[in-house]
Amino acid sequence: MPKITFIDPEGTRTEVEVRPRQDDLLEIAEEHGVKMGSACGGVCACSSCHVYVRQGLSSLPEMTDKEEDRLDMGFDVRPYSRLGCQCVVGEQDLVVEITHESLQVWFNEHPDQRR
Ligand code: FES
Repeated sequence: MPKITFIDPEGTRTEVEVRPRQDDLLEIAEEHGVKMGSACGGVCACSSCHVYVRQGLSSLPEMTDKEEDRLDMGFDVRPYSRLGCQCVVGEQDLVVEITHESLQVWFNEHPDQRR
């Protein structure tokens, strides 16, 4: 089973093992309490689930034109940027860094969690 390591901008690491080819990164994050924004609810209509895939990028499904268009709306987009809701996990381990913008959206969606 592939291991997913989420790292958020606050330095929190969350490691989970998942069944391959079942869920996307946003679904996995939500299931395990990882702070990943999801302003559109995971339908590729925003860029709030923007993540940096630091390891295992090539094991993810190819980016669609729609994802590319949405990602263009993101901040500090890099060659290893993806939208979490569009990345169904494959067979390989992944290291996924949550972006500042994604964490910010998560806090906007969960104002009670602000310090
Ligand atoms: Fe909106 Fe992923 S949650 S594009």
